[in-house]
Amino acid sequence: MNGNKILISIAALLIFLGANSIAFAEELRPIELLSPQIEEGKSLTQALKKRQSAREFSEKELPLEIISDLLWAASGVNRPDSGKRTAPTAKNSQEIDIYVAMKKGLYLYNAGKHILDPVMAKDIREFTGLQSFTQTAPLNLIYVADFSKIDGNDEDKVSSSAIDTGFMSQNVYLFCASEGLATVVLGWVDKSSLAKIMNLKDDQRVILTQPIGYPGR
Ligand SMILES: Cc1cc2nc3c(=O)[nH]c(=O)nc-3n(C[C@H](O)[C@H](O)[C@H](O)COP(=O)(O)O)c2cc1C
Repeated sequence: MNGNKILISIAALLIFLGANSIAFAEELRPIELLSPQIEEGKSLTQALKKRQSAREFSEKELPLEIISDLLWAASGVNRPDSGKRTAPTAKNSQEIDIYVAMKKGLYLYNAGKHILDPVMAKDIREFTGLQSFTQTAPLNLIYVADFSKIDGNDEDKVSSSAIDTGFMSQNVYLFCASEGLATVVLGWVDKSSLAKIMNLKDDQRVILTQPIGYPGR
């Protein structure tokens, strides 16, 4: 290959990469979530009575109102003055990120702005668990701990992130019970494959996943 051909090839590659990044940006944009509807829903005791794991989901998409309230219930900011959240975390480390896998792509919940930031325009729901209903449920939460945000040794990091995820996933269970939605937490997940697909950093660990949708039959 002579010099001109090499230059033409490099230019073609750059145009291809540029076009792809523009296409990506157009495909997946941030999703502005709605303010939480705190007057809605059943009483806490009614929700506790209905709390259960469900493994049959409808494919019907969840409306933005439900997605907004669901994420706020999981770990939204409930005290704007301090930035503290609906679920507690050890030493307020706020080390659990909630990724949201939907048909149109993967997003990251930004609780401070109450928006979904785009991560990748790819449907990864089938990788969020080893049970086939993860592909049917329209939305899957992926709880990911950032170990760089937690003090202590590895044992402390593992236990804090598991406990903190437990609070969030229980908030989601109760929200789903209150709204008549189906959900189940999943530990049976190929976590290392999922981490690779999500391009997670070394310090990030998948803790649990949680599909959510309308009940199926
Ligand atoms: C840490 C944890 C991991 C779980 N992993 C799975 C799972 O991978 N697949 C599944 O179908 N259910 C899973 N479950 C749900 C339990 O099976 C369920 O909570 C239990 O059977 C009690 O049922 P209930 O939630 O309806 O009370 C998990 C629950 C917990 C707390």
